[in-house]
Amino acid sequence: MKTIDVANGPKSAPRIILGCMRIPALSTEDAARIISTAYGMGINHFDHATCYGDGEAEKRFGDALPLTGINREHIIIQSKCGLHFDRREFDWSRDDIIKSTEQSLSRLKTDYLDVLLLHRPDLLFDPEEVAEAFDKLHSEGKVKYFGVSNVTPGQIELLKKYVKQPIVFNQLQFSLDQTQLIDAPMYLNNLTTDRSIDRDNGVLDYCRLNDITVQAWSPLQIGMFKGCFVDHPDYPELNQMLDKIGHKYGISKTAVAIAWILRHPAKMQAIAGTMNPDHLKEICDACRIEISHQEWYELYLASGKFLP
Ligand SMILES: NC(=O)c1ccc[n+]([C@@H]2O[C@H](COP(=O)([O-])OP(=O)(O)OC[C@H]3O[C@@H](n4cnc5c(N)ncnc54)[C@H](OP(=O)(O)O)[C@@H]3O)[C@@H](O)[C@H]2O)c1
Repeated sequence: MKTIDVANGPKSAPRIILGCMRIPALSTEDAARIISTAYGMGINHFDHATCYGDGEAEKRFGDALPLTGINREHIIIQSKCGLHFDRREFDWSRDDIIKSTEQSLSRLKTDYLDVLLLHRPDLLFDPEEVAEAFDKLHSEGKVKYFGVSNVTPGQIELLKKYVKQPIVFNQLQFSLDQTQLIDAPMYLNNLTTDRSIDRDNGVLDYCRLNDITVQAWSPLQIGMFKGCFVDHPDYPELNQMLDKIGHKYGISKTAVAIAWILRHPAKMQAIAGTMNPDHLKEICDACRIEISHQEWYELYLASGKFLP
């Protein structure tokens, strides 16, 4: 497993994280199996959110971890708060952050989170309240590191004005299908394509400049959960290129798609969502190789982009 010493955060964190959004579909025993497989491959970083399965993901993980024999101290448990689909609102108020985190700890059966992320921007957020919540959770030893998800540079600056702890991570959507994180600079000022539209105020460059590690979510999905683009009939050119490069390195198309994310010099972590141990092992092959500069472009172009 390739690792990264996260700036202001955990050392030797794996470049591939296991995302637990889909874990509620598993029995406790199968959940233990995928956690053990991940750990055996060097993936000791697990991503959660209070909203995954409405708390069921954290609960399943908390029930399954003791079956694996893995020492809690040897893994990085990350969760996210603030998304309340049931209430049809996003909430970053002081009390909600604290209450959500305490509920996460109870479901995960742990005394602390290694990482807490604010999931999606609460349009009514007050940075002073976030700072109070982070101070309390940090001083009580309930959270080691903090970060955000789907958050713009301006919102991070606003947080940083009040929050004492470093913002360590920003979790953002990024894959060969969903390339909006890198498209705008490529097509700068180009009226022939919507890809020139800056949709995030340059969040990738901002994160790199500010030592914020990007975690790429849904690295294999078409759009939002429309299925995997690997072997999908609508992506013939991309699959041909994944196959060609996979053949060269002796890894699968899926592994090449992950290697494409890991090749970016921002040194992102990729959050794999598979609950299939064989798929996860395949994905880990991405860490065995490094695709070339030119291959990275070949894949980007095969995914439907062009050189302006
Ligand atoms: N911050 C946010 O807003 C946000 C949003 C969404 C997700 N996330 C995080 O990102 C994680 C990953 O999201 P995701 O599950 O959408 O990611 P993904 O890894 O892109 O997709 C995984 C899905 O693709 C399927 N799949 C089909 N063929 C596959 C293959 N050959 N290899 C691997 N998977 C294959 C998997 O099924 P099998 O299980 O059968 O392999 C699984 O259903 C989540 O668990 C969550 O932690 C964060």
